[in-house]
Amino acid sequence: MCGIIGTTGAPDTCALLVAGLELLEYRGYDSAGVAICDRATGGLWRARAAEHAGSIGRLRTLLADAPRDPGASIGHTRWATHGRPTEENAHPHLDCTGRIALVHNGIIGNYRPLAAGLDARGHKRSSQTDTEVLVHLVEEEVASGADLAQAVRRCLAVVRGDFAIAVVRAEEPDVIVAARRTSPLIVGITASAGIVASDVAAALATTRELYALGEDEVATVRPGGLEVVDLTGRPVEPRRIEVSWSVQRAMKGGYPDFMSKEIHEQPQAVRDTLLGRLDGSGCTELDELEIGERELAGIERVQFLACGSSFHAALAARQAVEHWARVGADAEVASEFRYREPVLAHRTLAVAVSQSGETVDTLHAMREARRAGARVVAVTNVVDSVMAREADGVLYTRAGPEIGVASTKSHIAQLALLQALALHLGRVRGSLPAGELERASAAMSTLHLAVADAVGRGEEYCRVAERFAHVEDFYFLGRRAGLPVALEGALKLKELAYVRAEAYPAGEMKHGPISLIEPGVVVVVVATRTALWEKVMANVEEMRARGATVVAVADDGDEETAELVDAVLAVPHVEEVCSPVVNVVPLQFLAYTLARARGNDVDRPRNLAKVVTVE
Ligand code: F6R
Repeated sequence: MCGIIGTTGAPDTCALLVAGLELLEYRGYDSAGVAICDRATGGLWRARAAEHAGSIGRLRTLLADAPRDPGASIGHTRWATHGRPTEENAHPHLDCTGRIALVHNGIIGNYRPLAAGLDARGHKRSSQTDTEVLVHLVEEEVASGADLAQAVRRCLAVVRGDFAIAVVRAEEPDVIVAARRTSPLIVGITASAGIVASDVAAALATTRELYALGEDEVATVRPGGLEVVDLTGRPVEPRRIEVSWSVQRAMKGGYPDFMSKEIHEQPQAVRDTLLGRLDGSGCTELDELEIGERELAGIERVQFLACGSSFHAALAARQAVEHWARVGADAEVASEFRYREPVLAHRTLAVAVSQSGETVDTLHAMREARRAGARVVAVTNVVDSVMAREADGVLYTRAGPEIGVASTKSHIAQLALLQALALHLGRVRGSLPAGELERASAAMSTLHLAVADAVGRGEEYCRVAERFAHVEDFYFLGRRAGLPVALEGALKLKELAYVRAEAYPAGEMKHGPISLIEPGVVVVVVATRTALWEKVMANVEEMRARGATVVAVADDGDEETAELVDAVLAVPHVEEVCSPVVNVVPLQFLAYTLARARGNDVDRPRNLAKVVTVE
């Protein structure tokens, strides 16, 4: 959580820092800060602001007083973990001399004993953060004669936890030292500049010559120069990143916010994600899996691991795998799996699903699955992300960069890709009935058109949603493929509109929660035509009988459903296994409309961050 930017040698340091921080704000926005080596004075200049979503704006004002002859500089946008989101806890943190500055993304697990040692040795710490210990440890190494890179290496040798850091020092005004363990960090150079950033988008304004730092690697970045070593100081060949998208794609492109832009990019995301992986004639190609068809055919269980919206995609995938591949599948929240001492079946395929590829719970669950003997595949949207690097195989969703904190297009791309994986497993295992492979792959290769149809009804969905703009109690119900959709609809409403929304299997309401149903409650039900439609509608009757207002996600033209409910969000019909990809669209618009009606920032909902790199 938190974003890091660092620049050296570039002509417009302050503009680069601010632009980088703005692009990184999705990683957290509790505070922002910069530290700049001042060539004129030989000192270090720092500015910090802790005004939640206004921090970068305030920082821009403070930068009017920045050094006129800047050297190496670092910036940070924070999502608070240790210490409240105040200015004193904002990064960069300084050592006791005020001549070394450090920014950090991650958590230092052993910061308490390290802090106790530093305090005993007379250091003055000025924040409640775990991060600050690092800069004082670097200070001690520098005081004993090390240069900045050596000092960082030695300091990291005693640190436990996850980190990406960037450090500057007044005495070495060209140099940024960067290092990482688990948390991501990209470095890059041009002939005359160097860049450090938490993600590719923030680095692209400087250069396309970018490298992903590996675990426990330390980079020294200078104008036009890059050296990477491991913690023992041995040189390491930096790994080049292929960048296939532009900064422009990461911008709003004329939409009022990233969320609506990203909702409208969903048809393209599905199309791009399935491109070349399925065709209408029954061919499935998932070569990047790196797990041969023979081995896949022998898989005895599939274990999906994920958090949040990715978990909902995994729940839908579980059904698709059991339906098409006829192999047992489970989906579990990664933070629970990790500590459960899981016992995995022989020949388990573990599939870690994560938009960012960095969510620390999912990363550790993936590692746990591997320890328990599973073959591990990562499904992620971020090329070269930590999970992508660590998994045996990786399948990329091709949704493009997602900036809105609430996932939309990446979730839909996950759903589509996981369905393709299920169909692929069905093909290699020979478990599909005759003709099903051709039929299903043909249906999936036109899925983006159904998504485009649903997205095209956005205004209609918003009009329906406006009727419920001030409702405070929502239930979301679904059965089978409708349940992950209901869960995702409720999550979107909670995180964006800050409204209580509970999702339940429709058939489970009568076992308790139905006592909460009364006039004023709105029940949103996924009621598209499946074999369970009649049962779902019987559950709807139970809600209506207790005074609830019912809104149904229903097939376009389904008059019978429309007559039995109070409002309809009509979607194009697709077969049940594929239906979450389409049925979730109106629920995204519902959450969007309610959030905007309440004046909420849809791109940066409170208390959340896009990338959750803490437990
Ligand atoms: C909700 C949302 C989160 C993420 C979750 C996992 O809109 O975006 O629930 O889905 O934090 O993130 P990833 O997929 O990056 O592992």
